Amino acid sequence: RKVLLLNGPNLNMLGVREPAVYGRDTLESIEAEVVAYGAGRGVEVDCFQSNHEGALIDKIHEAHTCYDGIVYNPGAHTHYSYALRDAIGSIDTPVVEVHLSDIEAREEFRRISVIAPVCIAQIKGKGKLGYKEAIDVLLEHEDR
Ligand code: DQA
Repeated sequence: RKVLLLNGPNLNMLGVREPAVYGRDTLESIEAEVVAYGAGRGVEVDCFQSNHEGALIDKIHEAHTCYDGIVYNPGAHTHYSYALRDAIGSIDTPVVEVHLSDIEAREEFRRISVIAPVCIAQIKGKGKLGYKEAIDVLLEHEDR
């Protein structure tokens, strides 16, 4: 099985960016942990991060033929990108939405996810653990 770990804008700044909110781990170290976690569960995890909406849309389209699932932290795109929502809606690959922080408990604008309706689950507020949990959710989803 193959899963794509996808991270959107500003997540390349993890470790430096608002550590009180997002923690001190870098994206690179989180990716390595998720890859190892997946390997332990028989899942090959590929990682991709971009700050560009179009690059993320292209990657989601491509994922359609090569991945069994996508673990996706859309960053701020969560709150407004109908283009990314439609990209996910265009493929039948299951997507789990992940947020490091609890988007319900922060600014008002973060409470809305335009991505959530096209995802099979949303995990928020669990830090990097959420990415691993998302792998489990995808595996459980396959087992149904
Ligand atoms: C985030 C939450 C978003 O509101 C924010 O724009 C991010 C990160 C999170 O992981 O908690 O970039 O998706």
